[in-house]
Amino acid sequence: MTMNVVHVELGERSYSIHIGDGAWDLLQENLREWNSAGKVMVVTDERVHSIYGHRIEELAGAPNSPATVVVVPQGEKSKSFGRLEDLCRKMAGAGLDRGSLVVALGGGVVGDLAGLAASIYLRGVSVIQVPTTLLSMVDSSTGGKTGINLPEGKNQVGTFHQPQGVYANTDVLRTLESRDWYSGMAEIVKISLTLDPELFAYLEKVNDLGPEGGVDIQLIVEAACRRKAEVISIDEKEAGPRLVLNFGHTLAHALESSLGLGEIRHGEAVAIGMRAALSLSKQICGLDEGQYRRAMAVIEKIPVPDIRYDQNLEQFLTRDKKRIGGRVRCILLEDIGRCHVTSLDDPGELVKALALS
Ligand SMILES: NC(=O)c1ccc[n+]([C@@H]2O[C@H](COP(=O)([O-])OP(=O)(O)OC[C@H]3O[C@@H](n4cnc5c(N)ncnc54)[C@H](O)[C@@H]3O)[C@@H](O)[C@H]2O)c1
Repeated sequence: MTMNVVHVELGERSYSIHIGDGAWDLLQENLREWNSAGKVMVVTDERVHSIYGHRIEELAGAPNSPATVVVVPQGEKSKSFGRLEDLCRKMAGAGLDRGSLVVALGGGVVGDLAGLAASIYLRGVSVIQVPTTLLSMVDSSTGGKTGINLPEGKNQVGTFHQPQGVYANTDVLRTLESRDWYSGMAEIVKISLTLDPELFAYLEKVNDLGPEGGVDIQLIVEAACRRKAEVISIDEKEAGPRLVLNFGHTLAHALESSLGLGEIRHGEAVAIGMRAALSLSKQICGLDEGQYRRAMAVIEKIPVPDIRYDQNLEQFLTRDKKRIGGRVRCILLEDIGRCHVTSLDDPGELVKALALS
């Protein structure tokens, strides 16, 4: 059994990320203790429940008071006000109180929705993140960002609510669809480009980043979590250093919103966004041609769907929640492992860079 632990240092809100095939066994042990102290609600989605229902019942089962299990529809559409209200009402119906615990067991959608509900129900109850996709293991489960979407844009409503702990059982990645695997891989590439040249060199060496490509998943999930944990520890609320984690995301969020939520995987949109940001990095902050090519070669290992961009894209770019004083914030790369945070007067520059990439 493999298990690595990464610590997120945040004073009294510190917690650990447990990574490995033993993570759910440890979770089960810990849940037994929590369950005897207060009520527990496990939130998951239909697909995860259809594959791991039996294991989830085992996790949630407690001798005297089994946890309540709530199953939401899979996919981005569950990040809505309607679903949020429904979940909060189920919390009330199950009698959750200030001492209760919410367990978000699924991908980034479940993590964001259940995390948000936990942060506002009774002005905040504890949450544990149990990520089951590659993307949620390396990105969304750590750092405390929660959220739902508006028709006006993605993740436009949300909170910061750090989990009490993260339990990432890498064994469950075997059942991911290939597109979801690559979607998570895009976030790993992002972390390597912005924060970890050593991880980047590893990804450069592996020819095939796909599910059958033989990548050392334990190694890269741990490395990505470690880098993210370090950044969060120094900048919990994204006032400075944490901004680099948005590399590729300005365009990605606008793309996802303009295409219609759920049409493209988040990581696919990030891969497209990173290509455009790289082109702009050459023009604006002098990214060297050789480093540009190396970075692009690794990003191109992530297959992305052939999609059409329309005028909507610029509109959504101007609505980006990270805009400041009418300018669109954008993260560029000076070198592999070194970023430059800038803001663009004209969001059209990103759209042009997209065409060039
Ligand atoms: N909060 C943050 O910091 C943060 C960071 C990045 C992304 N996000 C959000 O995360 C979401 C994307 O997350 P995601 O890619 O995990 O999407 P997702 O939660 O929609 O999961 C993708 C699909 O995989 C299925 N699935 C989950 N685990 C599985 C498993 N082990 N085996 C088989 N199928 C499984 C799900 O049912 C779903 O159909 C987006 O909404 C994005 O905005 C949030």
